[in-house]
Amino acid sequence: MPVAIRPAVLNDVPAILTLAQQSPAAAHWTSGQYNKLVDSGVVLVAEEAGKPCGFVCAKAVAGEWEIENVVVAAGFLRRGIADELLRTLIQRAKHEAASAILLEVRESNRPARCLYEKHGFRQAGRRRSYYRDPVEDAILYALRFER
Ligand SMILES: CC(C)(COP(=O)(O)OP(=O)(O)OC[C@H]1O[C@@H](n2cnc3c(N)ncnc32)[C@H](O)[C@@H]1OP(=O)(O)O)[C@@H](O)C(=O)NCCC(=O)NCCS
Repeated sequence: MPVAIRPAVLNDVPAILTLAQQSPAAAHWTSGQYNKLVDSGVVLVAEEAGKPCGFVCAKAVAGEWEIENVVVAAGFLRRGIADELLRTLIQRAKHEAASAILLEVRESNRPARCLYEKHGFRQAGRRRSYYRDPVEDAILYALRFER
C-alpha cells in the first residue's frame, strides 16, 4: 500500500501525539504545542490506508525553519517514509523562500543524524548537556538555501 504525504489538520493531533509517545527517541510535545504548529507552523503527515504512520513538524520564524520532530511508527521503519517527509518539507521550505532549516538532535541518535545528513544538513554546532534523562549533548544541524 503506498504512503501518502499531506499537510496535517487539527483532527490529526491525537494520532500525532500517539506516534510521538510510542517513540522513545522522539521529542515530546504537548497537544497544545502540536495544535499551534498545525495552525501556524508546518506539519506533514504520512498516511497509509487512511491511518497516520509518521509525521514531521517545523516552526517557521522569519524565514528560518526549525524542525521540532520527525517520527515514523515502529512497524513502518526503513521504508523511506522519513525520506519522503523530509523531501516534501524541504521542497516546501524552498518554495516559501526560507533561508535555512535548522534542528537539534541527541548526539547518539544515529538514525536521525544519518537521515538529516542524507538530505544535505551539515553539523553547525553543539549544545553541551542540552538533553536530560539521560544527559547528552545536542548536535545542531543546518540546511542553508542559496538566495
Ligand atoms: C529517524 C526516523 C524518523 C527515520 O525514519 P524511517 O522512515 O525509518 O527512515 P527512512 O526509511 O526514510 O530512511 C531514510 C534515511 O534515514 C537514515 N536511517 C533511517 N534509519 C536508520 C538506522 N536505523 N540507522 C542508520 N540510518 C538510518 C538513513 O540515512 C536512511 O537512508 P538509506 O535508507 O538510504 O540508508 C525513525 O528512525 C524514527 O522515528 N526515530 C525515532 C524518532 C526520532 O528519533 N526522531 C528524531 C528526533 S530529532
